Order: sequence, then structure tokens, then C-alpha cells
Amino acid sequence: MKLLAGNWKMNNTLEEGADLMEALIEGLPAEVVGDVRVVVSPPFLQLPQTVHALWENAQIAVAAQNGHAADGGAFTGEVSMAMLRDAEVDAVIIGHSERRQYFGETDSDVAEKVQSALRNQLIPIVCVGEVLAQRKAGTYLEDTWNQLHAAFARVNPEDMSDCVIAYEPVWAIGTGEVATAAQAQEVHAYLRAQMEATFGVSDMPIVYGGSCKPSNAAEIFAQPDVDGGLIGGASLVAADFIALVELLKAS
Ligand code: 13P
Repeated sequence: MKLLAGNWKMNNTLEEGADLMEALIEGLPAEVVGDVRVVVSPPFLQLPQTVHALWENAQIAVAAQNGHAADGGAFTGEVSMAMLRDAEVDAVIIGHSERRQYFGETDSDVAEKVQSALRNQLIPIVCVGEVLAQRKAGTYLEDTWNQLHAAFARVNPEDMSDCVIAYEPVWAIGTGEVATAAQAQEVHAYLRAQMEATFGVSDMPIVYGGSCKPSNAAEIFAQPDVDGGLIGGASLVAADFIALVELLKAS
């Protein structure tokens, strides 16, 4: 399955978010989207209006950028996966490197969130990726696999095909430094082979993220183990995100 997800991160007012959705809905009719699964991931406060804007448009799914593992309770400032499901959100990004880096999320937190998402019928978009020091040390394959293995360790293999994996090398996020197509393919192929060898499941989409934009995406999307992208900066510009959908469809 081909999948393109836009992670808006902590950007846009309500009005800007609504305008962006309007442009995406207009620019992404069924014939443009084709067989690509398109996902947008606005900040929490923009989720209800985004879901509402998409009520008559099945082409685009909505993901939250985070969720708490508990279904409810005394967790001030948090939003549960159950609440996301109640708001008709379809998916949730889990373990983004910014959550790990700035909010101390551990592999164990990520594992609990993946289970909670599945329990609440949300598609987990599980992010893994090495930091620059790990890339330089040559340990990036085992480092990313360790993250992924931990995330799925307690998941029933029958549920794994419903998940999405995002490989996002931390050194490529928001830096303008994109992984080469060969670098992305190497890690994607490795993660897929490890998923198959360990859990017997490897048909989930594995998407690439990190400074992906229309000018560099075609070669990355053409790789056999790259099923799409998780897009940050370029997802905030409707024309760029639409161009990425078209590039992925053509790949
Ligand atoms: P950029 O595309 O801005 O590098 O962000 C990638 C990302 O973190 C998507 O989740």
C-alpha cells in the first residue's frame, strides 16, 4: 500500500489549518489520489474541524501526532487514544523523534502507545530512526531495528499488517539534508526483513521521512521498499503536498 502522511507538527492557527484542508480537498480528488492513502496530521486542537471537513471525502484520513496510552484518568494535559477514536480520528503518530528527544519518550512508552492505539482501533504510525552519531558509527541498522522491535514486541502479529512504519533518520528531519534513495532503501529493506524474520509479518507500509519534498522525492519513492512518505515542512504547503501525492502515485 502506498501512503503519504503530512505531519503538520505545532503549526497553523485554526483558520490556517482550515484553509490548508480546503486546498488539499480541492487538489486531491479521487483521480489525483489514485491508489495512494493520504493522511493529514494536524495539532490536537485542529483535529475536530479537520475530521468535519473530511466527512464527505473518504480520500484523506486524519492522524493525531500523539496520544496517551491510558484510556482515561488523572493525566493532566494529555489526550487518550480512546478520545481520539471518539473524535473519529483514524490514526496516530507514535514515537516521533521529536517526542523522544524533547519529551523523553522511551521505547517502552512507544510500545504501550502502540498497544493502546490498536486497542482503540487507531492505525499506529510508528516512527524510528537513528541520530547522526549512530549513522556515523555504522550502527544505524541495529539501532533502528531495536526501536522497532521494542515497539512491536507486545503486539499480536495478526495486528501488525494494520500498522505503518515510518523510517525518519533524525539527522534528516527539518535539516534540509535528505537521505539518499540508497540510504533509505537499505534501512527499509532491513527493517522489513527483520519484521519478517522476527514476527512473520512484513506487508505493512514502510514510509520515509526527513526533508522530503517534490524536488527530491521521486527517486526515494521509486525504491522497492519505500511505500511512501511522512512529510513535515512540505506538508504545510498545499501545492507541495499535492505534488508529493502525484509523485508517489506515479512511482
Ligand atoms: P521534515 O519533512 O520537515 O524534515 O519533517 C519530517 C518529519 O519529521 C515528519 O514527521
